[in-house]
Amino acid sequence: MGRVQDKVVIVTGAASGVGKEDALLLAREGARVVLTDIDEEAGRELARKIGDGALFLRQDISQEADWQQVFAVAQERFGGVDVLVNNAAILAYGTIEDTSLELWQKIQRVNAESYFLGCKYAVAAMKQRPAGSIINMSSMAGIGGVSSFCAYSASKAAVAGLTRSVAAHCRAQLYKIRCNSIHPDGIATPMVSKLHADKNAPSAYIREKDPKQLQARFALPSDIANLVLFLASDESRFMNGAELRIDNGYLMWAD
Ligand SMILES: NC(=O)c1ccc[n+]([C@@H]2O[C@H](COP(=O)([O-])OP(=O)(O)OC[C@H]3O[C@@H](n4cnc5c(N)ncnc54)[C@H](O)[C@@H]3O)[C@@H](O)[C@H]2O)c1
Repeated sequence: MGRVQDKVVIVTGAASGVGKEDALLLAREGARVVLTDIDEEAGRELARKIGDGALFLRQDISQEADWQQVFAVAQERFGGVDVLVNNAAILAYGTIEDTSLELWQKIQRVNAESYFLGCKYAVAAMKQRPAGSIINMSSMAGIGGVSSFCAYSASKAAVAGLTRSVAAHCRAQLYKIRCNSIHPDGIATPMVSKLHADKNAPSAYIREKDPKQLQARFALPSDIANLVLFLASDESRFMNGAELRIDNGYLMWAD
C-alpha cells in the first residue's frame, strides 16, 4: 500500500517544477492525481507518463469557473477530492518604489485570490469525504519579506493568513479537514532558472555564483514533494494551521 493509497489529489501548476514532482511522487504512492496547469502540452505529457491514475485538466487558477470545473470533473471521474495542493504561482520583480498597481493586482489575483478559491471549493468538496488536506505553497518571502519581490512577498503572506483562517474554521466546525502552508527558501525550478538567466536580476542571492552557496540556498523539487506527501497522507492527521519552513535554517543565526 502507498502512503496516499487511493486518495484523490488535485495539484495545480503540475506541468513544471515543484508541482510536477508532487504529482509524480503522489502517484507513485498510490494517489489518483488531477494535474492542472495553463501549460497544456507539458501537463498532458506528464499525465500520460503517470498513466491510468492521472488526469490533466487545463485550469487558470485565477478563474472561478475553472475551479468549479476541476472539482466537478474530479467528482465525476474519481468520486470526490481528498487533497488539494495549491501550488501554481507567478513571480515578478519590483520593490515598493517601482511596483505598479497593475502588477500588484496581477500577482495578488494569481497567487492569493486563486488560493482563496481553491480553499473555498476544497472545503465544500472535502466535507463529503472522511477527511481532507489542503496544502498551500507559500514561501520564506511571505515570512521574511524580500525587497525586490514586493507584490510576491505580500501574496505569499496572504496565503499564510488564509491558511490559518481555514484551519481555524475547519477545527471549529469539527471538519476533519486540515490546512497547512509550506515556506521554502529557493528551489531549483524553472521559476528560479529564469531569474538566474536574467542579468538584471535585482536580488543578491539570484546573482550568487558560488556553487556551494547555491547548494546551501536551493532545495530540490523532491525536497518539497516529500513534505507535500507527508501533509497529504494520514501521517500528518493532527497537523492543522502549521507554517512549515523548509529553508536549511535560513532564519537561524551562526556566530
Ligand atoms: N522556486 C522557488 O524558489 C520557490 C521558492 C518558494 C516558493 N515557491 C513556490 O512554489 C510553487 C511552485 O513554484 P515552481 O518554482 O515550481 O514554479 P514553476 O514556474 O516552475 O511552475 C509554476 C507552474 O504554475 C503554472 N501557472 C502559472 N500561472 C498559472 C495560472 N494562472 N493557472 C494555472 N497554472 C499556472 C505554470 O504554467 C507552471 O507550470 C509556487 O507557489 C512558488 O511561489 C517557489
